[in-house]
Amino acid sequence: RTVYLNGEWLPEADAKVSVFDRGFLFADAIYEVTAVIDGKLIAYPGHAARLRRSLDALGIPMPVGDDELLALHKEIARRNTIQEGLIYLQISRGAQDRDFVFPQDLAPTLVMFTQAKRVLDNPKWKTGLSLQTVPEGRWAQRQIKTVQLLYSSLMKTEAARKGYDDVLFVEDGYITEASSANFHIITTDGTLVTRDLSNALLHGITRGSILDLAQRAGLKAEERSFTVDETRSAAEAFITSASSFVMPVVSLDGHKIGDGTVGPTSRRLLEIYIEDQL
Ligand code: PDD
Repeated sequence: RTVYLNGEWLPEADAKVSVFDRGFLFADAIYEVTAVIDGKLIAYPGHAARLRRSLDALGIPMPVGDDELLALHKEIARRNTIQEGLIYLQISRGAQDRDFVFPQDLAPTLVMFTQAKRVLDNPKWKTGLSLQTVPEGRWAQRQIKTVQLLYSSLMKTEAARKGYDDVLFVEDGYITEASSANFHIITTDGTLVTRDLSNALLHGITRGSILDLAQRAGLKAEERSFTVDETRSAAEAFITSASSFVMPVVSLDGHKIGDGTVGPTSRRLLEIYIEDQL
């Protein structure tokens, strides 16, 4: 693969970041993941806008302009002949001798790479996922897309070893989101319920698109917190993310959601999402 590092296109083996980079020592970095289908960037404006919000929240300067950022996304897909897959972008505050206090003039580290992946042909769309609930254990600023992913990674790995596909974080009895996706239910009266935006969860770009599309399709939607019990008695559930689009969830902690198969509303939302993006 050809990767991008601070203005250079390099073979991946030659791309080197300092051991003093604050992304490495302090997880002082933010990231974005954008899907590519047929060479086309999916929901790019939303990802670019959130990237800027994450940087602003941490006071990291944006190292490239808007036009250059878009050009870099197109160029990395082209150089790696990515027809279908993901583009990963990370910006850290930069490198300095290890110190909790950082100066204001560090030069950020910008890294980009691609992952070729059949995003349009996900076998799990047919079967749906089984999730396990775990206590929310991440920091309290989850609206910022930082690379502090250790808790999510530990929990998802442990759950995967037990045969689950992912975890669902629960805080004060209410679901926040999955390890790397937003979580939604369809109630038995056909309403889409998704948690309202706050610092408790990432403001997913796919979540926003799905809310728009659902409303346009005449589906009733509510943005509010909901519990594990409400999820257990929902008709359907699904997660959304840049890499899985609309992914049905068919069981929670071993209990079926609805009849335990992929529901019609989740399937329909996936179809209209793909149609709308292509
Ligand atoms: N994750 N919530 C969390 C915690 C996430 O990490 C993500 C995305 C989402 C969904 O956001 P979006 O629809 O904008 O992708 C929600 C990416 C895909 C990842 O970490 O790979």
